Amino acid sequence: MTQIARPVRGTLIPCFVFDSDRDLGRYVAHILAGIIRERNSCGQTAVLGLPTGSTPVGIYRELARMHREEGLDFSQVVTFNLDEYFGLEPDRLQSYHRWMHEHFFQHVNIRPENIHIPDGTVALEDVEHHCRQYEAAIHQAGGIDVQLLGIGRNGHIGFNEPFSVPNSRTRLATLDPITRKDAASDFFSEDNVPTQAITMGLGTILEARKILLVALGEHKGGIIHEAAEKPATERVPATQLRGHPDVTFLLDRAAAGKLKDVATPWALGNVDWTDSLIKKAVLWLCDQTGKALLKLDDNDFREHNLHQLLRQHGPAQSVAHRVFRWMMDTIEYHPAGREHQRTICFSPHPDDDVISMGGTLIRMVEDGHEVHVAYMTSGNIAVFDHDARQLADLVTEVNRHFGIDHEKSPQLENQVLHDLTDKVPGQPDSQAVLDIKRLIRWAEAKAGAMVCGCREEHLHFLDLPFYRTGTISKNPVGEEDVRLIRELIERVNPSQIYVAGDLSDPHGTHRVCAEAIFLALGEIEAAHGGRPEVLLYRGAWQEWATHEIEIAVPLSPSDIQKKRAAIFRHESQKDSALFPGSDSREFWQRAEDRNRHTSDAYNQLGLPEYFAMEGFVRWKGRPL
Ligand code: F6R
Repeated sequence: MTQIARPVRGTLIPCFVFDSDRDLGRYVAHILAGIIRERNSCGQTAVLGLPTGSTPVGIYRELARMHREEGLDFSQVVTFNLDEYFGLEPDRLQSYHRWMHEHFFQHVNIRPENIHIPDGTVALEDVEHHCRQYEAAIHQAGGIDVQLLGIGRNGHIGFNEPFSVPNSRTRLATLDPITRKDAASDFFSEDNVPTQAITMGLGTILEARKILLVALGEHKGGIIHEAAEKPATERVPATQLRGHPDVTFLLDRAAAGKLKDVATPWALGNVDWTDSLIKKAVLWLCDQTGKALLKLDDNDFREHNLHQLLRQHGPAQSVAHRVFRWMMDTIEYHPAGREHQRTICFSPHPDDDVISMGGTLIRMVEDGHEVHVAYMTSGNIAVFDHDARQLADLVTEVNRHFGIDHEKSPQLENQVLHDLTDKVPGQPDSQAVLDIKRLIRWAEAKAGAMVCGCREEHLHFLDLPFYRTGTISKNPVGEEDVRLIRELIERVNPSQIYVAGDLSDPHGTHRVCAEAIFLALGEIEAAHGGRPEVLLYRGAWQEWATHEIEIAVPLSPSDIQKKRAAIFRHESQKDSALFPGSDSREFWQRAEDRNRHTSDAYNQLGLPEYFAMEGFVRWKGRPL
């Protein structure tokens, strides 16, 4: 394993952590390329078992680059995909056939006859035969050399859902409700997600000579902990991989976050007690003992395996007091200072600004700063059809009522209403419908920011090109995205910018937005020799852990009320959102719960008691 991967201690399956998803993608691509080259050099085929999903996108992109730029030859490669939805034609937007061609096969010189993907369109009575043929084809190809896997939040591999039989073969399987929920956004609604899929079995997967399971993002942290550290159980199919002689988990820092060696490394042996690790350990100790910082004693440290910390930095009162001071220093009423400043909040979707840092926007406006908000994407795919229909209807009627010339105004009733009536469930929208959905979110974003006191002339709608695919899957960051961001930063010339620092955004939009901003900042730094201060906030999914927070902005009950009013302006996302993720609470509820949770955590540490708080982390100039 190269320098870029760190081994994780104490797991039941070998695990390696990478600093970024990009490093991880490159690393896996290099392993696969090594096998392909070795086989090519002796005229043999390399047989790969492949997954779809958000996780392997970077791996396929890197393999395509190697083909393009380094001549990596796929003509002798044979592939077997893990699964396909049952009942879905191969050209449907959500079909894994289509996905694999768009993300990988069409970018390399693989022979069509070497590609194998279960056929989701076979008649029910032919499924068993089809599955037996699939197994036979794997056998005929000489078995799978490397099987690449993702993992579902419920521990599924392929579509082997909880309680799949360990020696199961390729078969028709019923999807777990969690899997269907997670796939809902791809199908524009949970109701459109097929209920069944054809999947390789656990037994089929376990016969591969080498298995690499890849996981990215905080939302995979819990299941990776279960799969790699808890007792094997049929409830978590990925634990069945333990029986395999050559299986490795490859993780980014976020997905590895709940493994013991990352979460509580002191419990596994000697550690280097850096300030951040001291802070993490002492806050963890408060959580374990239920005590405030200044009430910890030496015994608490010893009873929780923190002997080394006590010996090197104790006694308890001194190390606890140190952490107390650090935590006090995080509390900041004036996050942009007291002097007049310009700031930009980059909001990946039109509502992330108010959901994640609405209170801080309010505070900065009150402090007299010039607060800009840059909306990076239109967010149009998250608008319900019925909202678009309602608006088209309203505009049509307003035009008619006020006698506005239909020739000059867009023929909304013809276009939008007609397009929506003809729309098949799961089909992408027409341009007219996408436009009206974009305008709905534009108006909401404007109204929300203005509740926080932002001025209309300081709102920027970037509508970055990477997002403009009209579907859930997005393009990678392009030069145009970076140029638009760079130009805005150069024009506004802020002293501070706020960026969504998420790793768990299910569609990856936040991740791509952050990457584009960091690239723009790199260019700015190279051109001007400096850059604004960057504070990272978390999007709608999660808050920073208390030990990570570097700036905590206290919010009063009236700040929270105003913030709620700003979130309410996003009516298209209210009551029920099209893409709520795995959390059933509304966005305003999640925001308030999380802001209260942060202030409760501070209170329990014996720090001042606030009503609510928003947390930020300083960007250190490296990938997330
Ligand atoms: C996909 C597959 C699934 C995914 C898993 C993770 O072919 O078999 O097991 O690997 O659901 O999906 P992502 O990567 O989208 O989180």
